[in-house]
Amino acid sequence: MPSHLLSLTDLSYTDIISLLDTASDLKEKRARGKTSGELKDKTLAMLFEKSSTRTRISFEVAMTELGGHAIFLNSRDIQLGRGESIADTARVMSRYVHAIMGRVYKHETLVELSKCATIPVINGLSDLEHPCQLLADLLTIREYKGKFRGLNFSWIGDGNNVCNSAILACALTGMKMTVACPEGYEPNSEIVDKAKDMGGAINIIHDPIKAAKKTDILYTDVWVSMGDEDEYEQRLHDFGPYQINSKLIEQAKHDVMVLHCLPAHRGEEITADVVDGPNSAVFDQAENRLHAQKALLLRLLS
Ligand code: CP
Ligand code: NVA
Repeated sequence: MPSHLLSLTDLSYTDIISLLDTASDLKEKRARGKTSGELKDKTLAMLFEKSSTRTRISFEVAMTELGGHAIFLNSRDIQLGRGESIADTARVMSRYVHAIMGRVYKHETLVELSKCATIPVINGLSDLEHPCQLLADLLTIREYKGKFRGLNFSWIGDGNNVCNSAILACALTGMKMTVACPEGYEPNSEIVDKAKDMGGAINIIHDPIKAAKKTDILYTDVWVSMGDEDEYEQRLHDFGPYQINSKLIEQAKHDVMVLHCLPAHRGEEITADVVDGPNSAVFDQAENRLHAQKALLLRLLS
């Protein structure tokens, strides 16, 4: 296991399977009312430059149920927001807490934190990736489909941070990935090259119907990510044909699973009948953030 989780590529296939096995075990134990105190006296600092519901709550509950503690830090409220350097913040935090989870605008902020911290740094979403989300998604896919290899994974919409991590997740686990996005909204080219170098089968196209044909998994995310708000009108226009709705679902396999990292904007990237319908796994995905991150925290902090 690596000492930080900034990108999904910090993990090998074996690391991922081992984390998912631990997560499944913890999930089953929790359902029986059993929690462990393995992270007693350990503290996680959670640094947020952006809003969050799932990441914040699931990490905090994870630390509580593992016997430890989490501190929520809004970057604006600490001296970082008044100009203290990332490097000094990392050095100081390393003297108090046992790990840092950061949700940041620039991925580079996490890289710098990890270089200067002497404790693990976890990416809780950056402009480049969202690896914790994909760990939970892989757990959900394994629960529903019982395998990864050979599944067709179709991403409909923005080639954003979650899409980048999904590309790497597919390459690591042997799923065939198709991204259907409007021109100009393609995923990060370095990530795509990395996935191809890892042997990943990835196809980037602009036709959502073609991408949805006979697929096993349909995944979408918001059209306007945090930080893209200035482009709201333009994006709503450009992404119009890239909605997951009942017509698109008809193209896919009958047991297609619909994924969305949430928050969902019903009527934009996904319709209400789909997100709340029988193919949707979105609330299992959200729950699995807790179990997957517990496994990760145990691995990085024990
Ligand atoms: N999916 C996800 O990361 O949700 P939050 O923005 O609520 O943390
Ligand atoms: N792509 C979205 C994900 C939110 C969890 C964003 O960055 O805002």
